[in-house]
Amino acid sequence: MRVFLAGGAGVIGRRLLPQLVARGHQVTATTTNPEKLGLLEQLGAEAIVMDGLDAVSVGEAVAKAHPDAIVHQMTAISLAHAGKPDMKHFDRWFATTSRLRTEGTNHLLAAAEAAGVSNFIAQSYASWNGIRQGGWVKTEEDPLDPEKGTPAEAGMAAIRYLEEAVLKAHGAVLRYGSLYGPGATDDQVELVRKRMYPLVGSGAGYCSWIHVDDAASATVLAVEQQAKGVFNIVDDEPAPANEWLPYLAACAGAKPPMRVPKWLTRLLAGQAAVVMMTEGRGFSNAKAKRELGWKLRYPSWRQGFKEALL
Ligand SMILES: NC(=O)c1ccc[n+]([C@@H]2O[C@H](COP(=O)([O-])OP(=O)(O)OC[C@H]3O[C@@H](n4cnc5c(N)ncnc54)[C@H](OP(=O)(O)O)[C@@H]3O)[C@@H](O)[C@H]2O)c1
Repeated sequence: MRVFLAGGAGVIGRRLLPQLVARGHQVTATTTNPEKLGLLEQLGAEAIVMDGLDAVSVGEAVAKAHPDAIVHQMTAISLAHAGKPDMKHFDRWFATTSRLRTEGTNHLLAAAEAAGVSNFIAQSYASWNGIRQGGWVKTEEDPLDPEKGTPAEAGMAAIRYLEEAVLKAHGAVLRYGSLYGPGATDDQVELVRKRMYPLVGSGAGYCSWIHVDDAASATVLAVEQQAKGVFNIVDDEPAPANEWLPYLAACAGAKPPMRVPKWLTRLLAGQAAVVMMTEGRGFSNAKAKRELGWKLRYPSWRQGFKEALL
């Protein structure tokens, strides 16, 4: 297939691109930074500069690539695009990412329609943001939580917008868990090592993790099978923060995390951090395994953290 990978040089793109090439696909991959064109070419792609927030840039890039499939991996979460992570002002930190998930999605869908491409896959998110009612583990049938009244509300609305637009266009939404693996958790691990990533309150809130290479392999399957609908791309073991965080600290050779009360966290890091650590809901991957035939290389973060942090 000819695959158009919007956002080819990011944490996921860099691992997805070689997997697509290894399966015999021809990939056109995009970056906003001309200095990364060489990297994309080394990974086997035809590389192109594109601004996902510019309809003309997107339209021209897609038309030139003549793709059979379009994969939307555009976010702006890195230091270069978004500055330092800022949970307290999540909406500001995620402002450009939210634009890429709304305007950027519109531009890519319009370009897909103009080019007659119906195989459309987009990145979404399923880590701690399951609906905060009932059990700790959610399926694709359960709604995502709008995180109303928290600094994450605007970002969650953008995710909902992306999902609805892609589903309306009969594409597939891949809800990746929290990513780890090459380049994905360096910032967080640094905080864990400095004991600046504490357990909040009970630490009972759940989260789902996924190794970037497993996220990439699920994406390849979705492309090849022209998947439609929503899929949770997470590992087999959604877990509460009070299990995964001390384990992550041990794997990173750090002291156990400190414990911080909810009120202090709310003050220092905002309500989204409190929700994540105390009420978060994780996700089940049963549908992706069943329908895509997806097999994970890292079925649990327990094995994955150990290997990734060695
Ligand atoms: N589900 C998740 O948990 C999730 C998902 C993604 C990322 N992350 C986290 O976010 C952090 C950084 O991710 P990242 O390195 O992938 O960087 P990023 O800054 O989020 O960029 C991702 C991709 O989007 C592209 N992009 C950014 N702005 C764009 C625009 N205006 N138009 C078109 N493309 C644009 C980037 O292109 P350039 O080549 O121009 O930079 C890059 O290819 C990591 O810690 C990662 O774990 C988490």
